[in-house]
Parts: sequence; C-alpha cells; structure tokens
Amino acid sequence: MPSIPFNRPYLTGNEIKNITDAHERNQLSGDGHYTKLCNEWLEKNLNTKKALITHSCTAALELSAIAIDISPGDEVIMPSYTFVSTANAFVIRGAKPVFIDVNLDDLTLDVNKIEPAITNKTKAIVVVHYAGISAKMKEILEIAKKYNLFVIEDAAQAILSKYKSDYLGTIGDLGCLSFHETKNVVCGEGGAILVNNENLIEKVIIAREKGTNRSNFLAGKVDKYTWVDVGSSYLPGEIIAAFLLAQLESAETIISKRKSYNKLYQDFFLEYRDMKDFSIPNDSIVTKSNGHTYYLIFNDIKKRNLFISECDKEGLKCTFHYVPLHSSTAGEKYGSTSGTLHNTDYISNGLVRLPVWIGIDREIELIFGILKKIIKNNFN
Ligand SMILES: Cc1ncc(COP(=O)(O)O)c(C=O)c1O
Repeated sequence: MPSIPFNRPYLTGNEIKNITDAHERNQLSGDGHYTKLCNEWLEKNLNTKKALITHSCTAALELSAIAIDISPGDEVIMPSYTFVSTANAFVIRGAKPVFIDVNLDDLTLDVNKIEPAITNKTKAIVVVHYAGISAKMKEILEIAKKYNLFVIEDAAQAILSKYKSDYLGTIGDLGCLSFHETKNVVCGEGGAILVNNENLIEKVIIAREKGTNRSNFLAGKVDKYTWVDVGSSYLPGEIIAAFLLAQLESAETIISKRKSYNKLYQDFFLEYRDMKDFSIPNDSIVTKSNGHTYYLIFNDIKKRNLFISECDKEGLKCTFHYVPLHSSTAGEKYGSTSGTLHNTDYISNGLVRLPVWIGIDREIELIFGILKKIIKNNFN
C-alpha cells in the first residue's frame, strides 16, 4: 500500500552547510550573522520597514500584543476560524477575543461583521490570511482608521502572497509569519514579526529581547544594557536562523512548485466541480494563493470524515483544519462572539486539506487514482 504523508518538510541542500558555518562563527545564541541575514532578506523581499525573526508565529503574535499595549479588558476582533495562537496571544495579556464569521468563498474575515463587533473597548482587528489568501484589506484598513484600531495580520500561511501589489503581513501595523515545518518556508519551529508601523519598532525590539535595551548595547549606543520594558525571549538561535536562510533564499522556487501542485489538483477536480457532496475552490483562489494548501469543502462532517478515513485506508493522508475557537473550551471561557458564525461552523465541519509538499508531483497519478476510486464509490 502507498504511504503518502500529508506533509514532508523540504530541504534545499544548503541548510547543513549554513548550520556548520554558524557554528564556526562562534555564536549559536540569537541575533548573530544568520539572524541578520534572515531579517534583511524579509525586509528587502517583502518590502517592510523592520522584520525580526522569532521562534514561532505564536511568538510574533504575542510580541504584537505587547507592542500595542494590550491590557486587561481590551477587546480584539478576529475570526473564529483560525489557529489558537491568534487568540491566545491576546488572552495571555488579559484581552478578550471577539470572534466573528468568515466568508464562504475565501475563508477570511467577513468585513460586514466587523463594525457591529466594535465597542469602546476594542483595540485591534486581527486578520488571518487563510491558505495564503488575502483578507479584504482595503475595507479592513478603512474601518480601523475610522475607529482608531490597530490592524495585525496573522500571515502564518501567507509568505510572499499579495494583496494588490503589497505582500501580506506588510499592510497592517504588524504582520506575523510562520516557518513551522508544515508551512511553505520552514525551519522546524520559527516565525517573524514585520513591523510596518514605525512607531512600534522600538517597542518590538525591546520586547523581543526580554524587555531589555540589549540591541542598543550591541549597536554601541549605550554602555550597558538593562531592563526597560515588558518582554520575553522571542528570538531563535543561530542554528535555526542558518537553516531558515537557506529556505528563504529558495522561497520563490518553493512557492512556484507548490502553486503548480495546487493547479494539478484543481485541474483534476474540474470534472467534479458540480458534485453535490463537496465543492472545490474557485479558480481565482488557486491562482492567487502561494500554494500553501489545497482544500475541498464537504457539505457535511460525516461525509468529510468518511473521505478522510477512506483516503487513510489507501495510504493517502488528508486532514481537517481548525476547530472553531468560539465554541472551544477556552474560547467560551475567555472570548465572546458577535453575529452568527454559521460559515465558520460549516467550513470547520466540511474542510479537508490534501497533501502538498515538494516532490508530490512524482506521486500525483497515484493520488489521482486513489481519489477517483474513493469519489466514485462514496460521493455524489
Ligand atoms: C493562522 C495561524 N496563526 C498562527 C499559527 C501558529 O504558528 P506557529 O506554529 O509558527 O506558532 C498557525 C499555525 O499553523 C496558524 O495557522
């Protein structure tokens, strides 16, 4: 039986060379040679004022919450259809996530649900660019301006995806990227914060360095460093940075391959576009995305789970995605909802992600054979 994993982390071939070099440079703690190169790569290639790598996207989100002074009682509007870290980063600073619904077509924040969710305690809107597809940033920025709110982009899955001519993560006040092993560009666990609002740069630098002014010390601007503000340890070591740089330098190639795999899936599923039991993404979603994910949406959780278990029996690993935050144990305890969340529930129950990893083209005919058989035997 074939064994086709859901994910297989890719190696460019330069990771180990870089790691050896990092060791030879005699610095394995953070903010050394490779961290600087990663930060510079992000600033130059994404066109943002300040980029700093972190040990995860979760860390970048937590830094964002510190940077905008999230305090107990603040409210932060976000989709319920997201990963726990989007909410947790604000909850650990005492804020309340206010969950709203997503659009059925692009699975990003429904902008019509934002204004009704705003109160005098609202401090920020967190947008999630699901599957590397941009939320409706123009409308979101207009609302944020009208009510004087910060905008944070959770661009965990969205490296090098664009909204119009801007890269995702560079449009709001702050943007957060993930380099977790399941993402397009990986280093095991890793992330980055993009600081697009110049007023927040100093705050982010200090918070990332345990609340100290160490970066001023390293730059020779002060003769000793000390505790100056709230912070924690959010920087990765040089081994991670060395690995990551190799990946960043191949990011365009990785993305173009992943996009081509998504296109293969989309072409395969064209003959199933009128199925009653599931729907395929619009062509525009597949074209615009950075190839991170290819998904189907079943109209019922039982059918979705049947699809996953039938694939499993054939050695093809497919997987569901987020469990809604608004109805989770912690979501009910720490958050609240605004408006209905029918789309969130529908997507959460129906969505299944298919494997996308570098080299999957070699298995694609096998995958298509398995999918054909499963669909023919089980679905309308
Ligand atoms: C939307 C979103 N935000 C944040 C994260 C957390 O990323 P990390 O694992 O790098 O902390 C994820 C992880 O998958 C995610 O999907």
